[in-house]
Amino acid sequence: MSNHLPFATHVAVAELDREKLVRGLNTTLATALDLHSQVKQAHWNIKGPQFFARHELFERLATRVLTWADELAERTSALGGYAMGTTRLGAAASEISEYDLSAVDGSAHLLTLVERYATFCERLRVRVNEAADADDAATEDLYIEILRAAELDMWFLESHLVPSGTASVTSFAHAASTISNGAISNVGVVNGGGDSATRRRDQH
Ligand SMILES: [Fe+2]
Repeated sequence: MSNHLPFATHVAVAELDREKLVRGLNTTLATALDLHSQVKQAHWNIKGPQFFARHELFERLATRVLTWADELAERTSALGGYAMGTTRLGAAASEISEYDLSAVDGSAHLLTLVERYATFCERLRVRVNEAADADDAATEDLYIEILRAAELDMWFLESHLVPSGTASVTSFAHAASTISNGAISNVGVVNGGGDSATRRRDQH
């Protein structure tokens, strides 16, 4: 067994392929953990217009990123690998840039997060192809699921950055307005619904 595959498994994927998959999973895990900490950074430090809606949106996005990290780490173990998930390991292997510590108002935080989500999603697309090359539909499916959810969350963030009065397509303007005014309930539906007041209490 190699350093990347310390444990035996009956998963029917060739050892050489599992080794590559575990490397990719651990890098994606590191990036997800870094992204989670950066979304929380925005949650804690955002100021300005729509403070509370954005503060709560960031909390919900952070929760989702943490779920992805857990799934990536557990897939690593399922393939016979060792999950590299401490904060220091994550910081060393992450594929996204450090947070913009000069960000203060809402737009600066949103733009910083959109850029990090864009990199995360771009790297996920590479991982989807790597998993397909390794003939591992299960890992490929996990990446696709995370990619779809991450691009949805990136849309939530991007929709806040449309300057008022610039959207010319009626349906797009309506969608952006819906997100700006009701992001919490929308994201709540994505997360499986539940009582919003209860969720709010649980997250502080
Ligand atoms: Fe909080």
